Amino acid sequence: MCCSVLPPLVALLLLQLAEVTDGHWEDYKYGRQDSEQPGKEHQCTWKCVLFTLQWPGGFCQSLNNQSLCKIPRSVNNWTIHGLWPLKSRGCCDCWPMFHSDVQELEAELTEHWPSLLKTKSSFQFWREEWRKHGACAACVEGFNSPLRYFQTCLKLRHQFDIHRLLDDAGITPSCDRPYKVEEVHSVLAPHLGDQLEIQCVTDDKDQEVWFQVKIGLSRNLTIGCEHHGNAKGDFAAGSNPVSYPSPGHPCRSGIPFYYLPINQQQPLRPCD
Ligand SMILES: *[C@@H]1O[C@H](CO)[C@@H](O)[C@H](O)[C@H]1NC(C)=O
Ligand SMILES: *[C@@H]1O[C@H](CO)[C@@H](O)[C@H](O)[C@H]1NC(C)=O
Ligand SMILES: *[C@@H]1O[C@H](CO)[C@@H](O)[C@H](O)[C@H]1NC(C)=O
Repeated sequence: MCCSVLPPLVALLLLQLAEVTDGHWEDYKYGRQDSEQPGKEHQCTWKCVLFTLQWPGGFCQSLNNQSLCKIPRSVNNWTIHGLWPLKSRGCCDCWPMFHSDVQELEAELTEHWPSLLKTKSSFQFWREEWRKHGACAACVEGFNSPLRYFQTCLKLRHQFDIHRLLDDAGITPSCDRPYKVEEVHSVLAPHLGDQLEIQCVTDDKDQEVWFQVKIGLSRNLTIGCEHHGNAKGDFAAGSNPVSYPSPGHPCRSGIPFYYLPINQQQPLRPCD
């Protein structure tokens, strides 16, 4: 279901490789294959991924230091947090990512995958996600370069139009109207799968605030993933979004939560 190699990129990568002079470089022209790592042939262990989208209207509440958050003016929708292989052992720091790797996607990534932290540029965010998760996913064809990984994630973002699904069901951001996890789940699950996790944080007024959604996918990116053992528990445990401090939890049954509007001027207090 994925993308073809783009010839201009190949030329660009070759140029970059020419700059690597320590005699220890690998040829990433067509992406790295597992078999190129001696003794590590069977490292592509993951079967399932979590595709995680965040709601900027609730993101600030998920931070330990809430004054660190920002919402760029161009951002007014669900944005990508990352795509994370579960239980992957094929991960390494050995595949650096450069700005030029994703130059052609920059406008789209800036809109759909912005950093919401003042202390981190969007590129730093992308590079971190690549290093922690993308490089682990790269043993599968559709992910086996930074460009492909980010292209695939953008496609998924377009495929999962959460905003429209909710809007069609009358679930819209609001300062006053709380929602129940059951009603949101029943709207989204037919499109995003039963393993969908709707995540909340508790804000400083002890209100539950919706800030994130995790979607379980198979390696071939079909919705849902057959997972040995306890699928739900594994999905939750495997997520570990270390890139943002994120004390989120699954929104609790029976406890209403807020789907707050996005307010770029006052990201932390959108309703004041
Ligand atoms: C939170 O971030 C602000 C802005 O960077 C900083 O001035 C402040 O010291 C931080 N507070 C804590 C508790 O870390
Ligand atoms: C969010 O994006 C969807 C398409 O992905 C679009 O239909 C919708 O209007 C956007 N919402 C806002 C508030 O811009
Ligand atoms: C995708 O993978 C799942 C799980 O391995 C499998 O059941 C399904 O048939 C595959 N779908 C396609 C279109 O290949």
